[in-house]
Amino acid sequence: MTQLLTQLDLDDVCFIEQVCFGKDAWNKNMLESEYNGGSVFFGIKRNEKVVAYISARIIIDEADINNVAVLPEFRKQGMAQKLVDALAGYCENKGVKKFTLEVNANNTPAKNLYQKMGFVSFGVRKGYYHGEDAEIMWLDKEQN
Ligand SMILES: CC(C)(COP(=O)(O)OP(=O)(O)OC[C@H]1O[C@@H](n2cnc3c(N)ncnc32)[C@H](O)[C@@H]1OP(=O)(O)O)[C@@H](O)C(=O)NCCC(=O)NCCS
Repeated sequence: MTQLLTQLDLDDVCFIEQVCFGKDAWNKNMLESEYNGGSVFFGIKRNEKVVAYISARIIIDEADINNVAVLPEFRKQGMAQKLVDALAGYCENKGVKKFTLEVNANNTPAKNLYQKMGFVSFGVRKGYYHGEDAEIMWLDKEQN
């Protein structure tokens, strides 16, 4: 159900970005450069189209989650949770057990998702998102 995405899926990912993040969406060039820079993308498809995705950049022993997004009509079905699990499994196979990310401090659904997966907050970047605060979250599977 959850699968590794390739460069051929980036148009679908770009569409998800636009629907979910509007003016803050990553465009195709940004996605391409993340992909070519070694970020890993996992997605869930319906009718051959990606409807939910996660991407992360692995740097030595740590995975930095760039984004997770689910098209509105597919939310609250556990897709985001499956994507975080898939990423965690992939990382574990590579010996990567530390995860970090930034989330808008007002984004309750995303914060709840990450907290449920074991992430804890450990700092705030003031005004990081057009004046809104970003919360830095962290998960160390070695300590869990
Ligand atoms: C955040 C987001 C990815 C969650 O996707 P999802 O597939 O609906 O999430 P899941 O169904 O896997 O839910 C997992 C957990 O997330 C939390 N959650 C998800 N949606 C929520 C909501 N609307 N309100 C509160 N908590 C929510 C809950 O803890 C949920 O667990 P539960 O179902 O046992 O309560 C989705 O809402 C989204 O794409 N939002 C827009 C993009 C975004 O903000 N991405 C995060 C950027 S860092």
